[in-house]
Amino acid sequence: MTVLSLSNVSKSFGGIRALSDVSLSVPEGRIVGVIGPNGAGKTTLFNVITGAYRAASGEVVLGGETITQWPSWRIMRSGVARTFQNIRLFASMTVWEHLLVAQPRQNALWRNALPVSWADAEARTRAEDALTFFGLEQYRDVIARTLPYGIQRKVEMARALTAKPKLLLLDEPVAGMNAEEAADLRTLFRRLNERGLSILLIEHDMPFVMTLCHQLYVLDFGALIAEGTPDEVRTNPLVLDAYLGTEAA
Ligand SMILES: Nc1ncnc2c1ncn2[C@@H]1O[C@H](COP(=O)(O)OP(=O)(O)O)[C@@H](O)[C@H]1O
Ligand SMILES: [Mg+2]
Repeated sequence: MTVLSLSNVSKSFGGIRALSDVSLSVPEGRIVGVIGPNGAGKTTLFNVITGAYRAASGEVVLGGETITQWPSWRIMRSGVARTFQNIRLFASMTVWEHLLVAQPRQNALWRNALPVSWADAEARTRAEDALTFFGLEQYRDVIARTLPYGIQRKVEMARALTAKPKLLLLDEPVAGMNAEEAADLRTLFRRLNERGLSILLIEHDMPFVMTLCHQLYVLDFGALIAEGTPDEVRTNPLVLDAYLGTEAA
């Protein structure tokens, strides 16, 4: 089964071709990585998948349904959750509040306006599970934005999990983290994956990507230049040239 597939997706901003005929797929239960230099179109890819941007051409299929024209909220409700490259947390909310407000509540706007303490029991259970999974219990009532960077990133991931996604999109989840924090996250992502969650992950940290992902895609100037297992990609001359070469330089 394929959770997500893109066929020939293109997206431009003015004269910049951010995505050019990109085709890729995420098989169910896999961790798929997207790598490539800065400006390659990786975040744009996530924005197109989640409906934040509309593809100019091509098709996005989620669980057998064509979602290319769907609004963001509908895609999220269909089982896609994401984290952002830059932290996006609310200024005055505790960790616990973040975990409650992220959850879809029957799309009733008035319910979203209710105090979070009124949130239903199921939402609370999901929030509790996410809190425990990421080891955030001790920060529960702390204003999220006052926490150290690595913890804030975990809050965002926990928040994404409360939506009960079938596909999790992570945009540079270990950027700015030290080796120990990255190793900790690798373990957590593996555990999530073992529970059946499919993951599409953008990341610059090569050892992290190579040891975590089952499958990799390499973007360069908006186009895919390689795909395969980490070993295949690692030894691909195009990749060495476009990406690993520039890294080393
Ligand atoms: N909203 C936007 N408006 C204009 N240009 C954009 C926008 N988003 C991305 N781009 C451009 O598209 C290209 C790809 O950007 P991005 O997807 O953020 O790359 P990456 O995440 O791989 O670093 C870049 O040239 C970037 O400047
Ligand atoms: Mg990016």
